[in-house]
Amino acid sequence: MSRLAIAILAAGKGTRLNSARPKVLHSIGGKALLRHVIDTALHVAPAQDIFVIVGHQAQTVETAVADSGVQFCLQAEQRGTGHAIQCLRNAWAARGLQYDELLVLSGDVPLLALSTLESLKAFHEQQHAAMTILTAVPENPFGYGRVLRAAPGSPDVLAIVEQKSLAPDQMNLPEINSGIYAFATMPLFAHLDDITASNGAGEYYLTDMASLLVAAAERVVAIAAPRADEVLGANTIAEMMQLDATLRMDKARQLMAAGVTIFAPETCVIDPDVEVGADTVIEPFVQLRGKTVVGRDCVLRSYSVIQDSSLADNVVIRNSCVIDRSMLEAGAQVGPFAHLRPKSRIGAGAHIGNFVETKNTTLHPDVKAGHLSYLGDAEIGAGTNIGAGTITCNYDGVNKHRTTIGAGVFVGSDSALVAPITIGDGAYIAAGSTITEDVPAEALALGRARQTTKPGWATTRRATQKKKS
Ligand code: UD1
Ligand code: MG
Repeated sequence: MSRLAIAILAAGKGTRLNSARPKVLHSIGGKALLRHVIDTALHVAPAQDIFVIVGHQAQTVETAVADSGVQFCLQAEQRGTGHAIQCLRNAWAARGLQYDELLVLSGDVPLLALSTLESLKAFHEQQHAAMTILTAVPENPFGYGRVLRAAPGSPDVLAIVEQKSLAPDQMNLPEINSGIYAFATMPLFAHLDDITASNGAGEYYLTDMASLLVAAAERVVAIAAPRADEVLGANTIAEMMQLDATLRMDKARQLMAAGVTIFAPETCVIDPDVEVGADTVIEPFVQLRGKTVVGRDCVLRSYSVIQDSSLADNVVIRNSCVIDRSMLEAGAQVGPFAHLRPKSRIGAGAHIGNFVETKNTTLHPDVKAGHLSYLGDAEIGAGTNIGAGTITCNYDGVNKHRTTIGAGVFVGSDSALVAPITIGDGAYIAAGSTITEDVPAEALALGRARQTTKPGWATTRRATQKKKS
């Protein structure tokens, strides 16, 4: 069996972005460009055979994707895509590695479909080619290298010509080089040092391998990707946002095909790994980020942003909620304007109303916290009612403490529960109380000044008060 490696070119600076962040770490679809490419590569080769070529801000790029387990190869000076592969060859030699086939992917071409990469590999093997180029025919080929075929319809390629080197009669060549290739490493390495930097940019272009291999009587072929937009590069922020829109719309279409209703899908931001059950309704301007999972028959109203959270069936999220790393059980209702911070667990049928914030807090089934509350580091038993304005005072200035409230408790409005504190099942907390001591089950606790009422006081005051002139 032949040994296959994958190289991902990611050393370039991304000059055209005018950004301090390395190009391959810019995100589309909620994921760095490079991460998209690595995730696709991992379906074709194990991490130890995937080599990311890093250079510009190498350490930052490595750290960002190190958890994928891929290998890195340093291209200390970025002298072109051909030079990047020379660096890889030298790194293999130094590490005693040998491979027969090499797939070259570009860190800034993130939408490549796995099926397209597999077709490229299969075509390369079937054609016994030294180099196979993945191409496309986009609406606007400007800026891309163009592929010169031996004859129309022929798989054979004569050369790749970069935009800057196009002769006047080549300007309208429609077929572009995607920057994605399959190589047989033997002929590639035999001619890799023949690349020169004698072009306008003074760079060693990997694209020159096409004509060099042809001159050496090696077979160079091309195969077109089924969709041009999956091989478009991201060289400017505007191009990147276009790829982002493509990705988002693909995701929305997939979900709609699976029975999800999405109003104005072009306004919604749904990350690729998000799952949504059938018959859920998503209103305009909803964002579902990260690994969020939404069940069936849910309603997600406009302007809510849900990150890495799980929602069971029949959950209602009203307008403008922020939900982060939280779990909502079936039939829970949240919002409008609620903030569920990490580790909030909202039980079945529970209700969180407007301007309620929760953090690291479990609400058991049917708890109601309708208005203006902060519930942090708390556990609240089933069926308990949390009155408007209730605050768990969880922080003493140094440490965080827990509040434990039993089932069927009635917490009156505007109560301050000073943690650590436990309130037993079925207890009542009088409105406006500051509770500093544990309350046993079934008790009433009052923690406020007794009211004094003075009849007629106001009349007397007005009569005796003189206005200063
Ligand atoms: C390249 C191709 C062009 C193709 C286009 C497709 C060359 C010379 N041209 O152009 O034919 O149409 O991709 O998107 O290859 N990189 C390195 N080291 C370097 C230079 C670049 O690792 O020294 C990396 C970059 O980080 C990037 C990739 O290689 O991920 C492509 O480089 P880029 O500068 O974007 O090339 P393009 O001009 O897009
Ligand atoms: Mg590019």
